[in-house]
Amino acid sequence: MKVLIATQKPFAAAAVNAIREILEKAGHQVALLEKYPDTEELIRNISDVDAMIIRSDKVTAAVLDAAPALKLVVRAGAGYDNVDLEAASAHKVVVMNTPGQNSNAVAELAIAMMIFMARNQFTPATGTEIMGKTLGIQAFGNVGRLVGSKASALGMKVKAVDPFLSKQQIEDGGAEALESLEELYSSCDYISVHIPATPQTIGSIGYKLITSMPKGATLVNTARKEVIDEAGLEKALEDRPDLKYVTDIAPDNLAALKEKFGLRVFATPKKMGAQSAEANVNAGLAAARQIVAFFESGCTRFQVNK
Ligand code: 3PG
Repeated sequence: MKVLIATQKPFAAAAVNAIREILEKAGHQVALLEKYPDTEELIRNISDVDAMIIRSDKVTAAVLDAAPALKLVVRAGAGYDNVDLEAASAHKVVVMNTPGQNSNAVAELAIAMMIFMARNQFTPATGTEIMGKTLGIQAFGNVGRLVGSKASALGMKVKAVDPFLSKQQIEDGGAEALESLEELYSSCDYISVHIPATPQTIGSIGYKLITSMPKGATLVNTARKEVIDEAGLEKALEDRPDLKYVTDIAPDNLAALKEKFGLRVFATPKKMGAQSAEANVNAGLAAARQIVAFFESGCTRFQVNK
């Protein structure tokens, strides 16, 4: 089978080599399309591809139309809002993710972002410490749990809300379980967001939740920019000069936010949560192994379109 690694944001070379080794050993042919400029370029390269490994690369209906041999897409990572699942199912293409494989890298970045903002983006102004502060985790999945355990080790008090977990499951993960987002936001000095972008969550974090945060609080977003109501965020930062926002996914209104709020806002230049050599290798290898198992035995573990 021909497997295309299509990554606008490339994996570390070590990950590409390891993916290639696993796939070639199993008799597959590997092609590489990195740093491609747009979806049109992807479309030009997939007419004979049987499987693809992607990251945040967009797999639209047009991409699927251009790949008549395609049977499997593996998103090397957690979030799969970049794949049109309905169109994939209509094309009889299986879509999988590799949950948990890049979680530690994202969790480490969330912790780093808290400290970076607490220390005024490493400028000489007097900052604060995170020890003794309260962290609220919105969604206690693979990343949320890791952020929680690292924060506990740094002396933070950790609370979490997750509608898909029981109180007991959250407590077993080391956090105090709260029932509502309102309770979480209003009682935490830091909120770390770990929800996927879905029709239910898009634009769900807005003015009301943000302004309910205590004095001096910071909102940390290493999830997706779409979950934030950006106009609501801007107004909240305007009305509450004590609040801060740090994100791994630049908002559309970043220029306005930077101009108005200076060091109270920071966005990484390019999403980098999962951009560690370890995360690339973990997610890339998992994707390669899932492809081998799919073609060898029809294994569809981690399929996300049913
Ligand atoms: C994920 O959903 O796994 C992360 O957001 C990482 O995305 P990336 O592979 O585009 O860096």
